[in-house]
Amino acid sequence: MRVLFVCLGNICRSPTAEGVLRHKLRTAGLTGQVDVASAGTGDWHVGNPPDKRSQAAALRRGYDLSAQRAQQVTRADFSSYDLILAMDQSNLRNLKALQPAQGKAELDLFLRRYQSSVDDVPDPYYDGEHGFEQVLDLIEQACDLLVIELKGRL
Ligand code: 4NP
Repeated sequence: MRVLFVCLGNICRSPTAEGVLRHKLRTAGLTGQVDVASAGTGDWHVGNPPDKRSQAAALRRGYDLSAQRAQQVTRADFSSYDLILAMDQSNLRNLKALQPAQGKAELDLFLRRYQSSVDDVPDPYYDGEHGFEQVLDLIEQACDLLVIELKGRL
């Protein structure tokens, strides 16, 4: 089972989701059964580590994002991943435009799929400290439900 989180730059929201899900899978004893990755629809930050503010906020909650490097989503990802989760509706629109007619990946809006009260993980890039905490709050909640779904699908 392979899961890909996608945001715009792949330096704030989707790397956070990757780190949180990986941690929760480890706690659930599912490491090795689910492959987790993240990517951006844009290419500006390819090869860079996550934003220092995302890394610091994540580390305060026990998630180490330091080994991650940004990459851009590709059409081939729709064949190699089972589930592609967009962080906001703009990311979802861009992914739909890229999605090949064939390809096994199921494409969905991350928060909407996991019954959050909001649809979008807000882009924290131009925001203050609070934005990064809010991103973590939303991602942690949704990842708890994602882990339950994954358990049922394995
Ligand atoms: P992300 O945040 O999509 O959560 O990684 C952003 C990072 C960089 C930019 C925009 C959003 N940017 O414009 O460079």
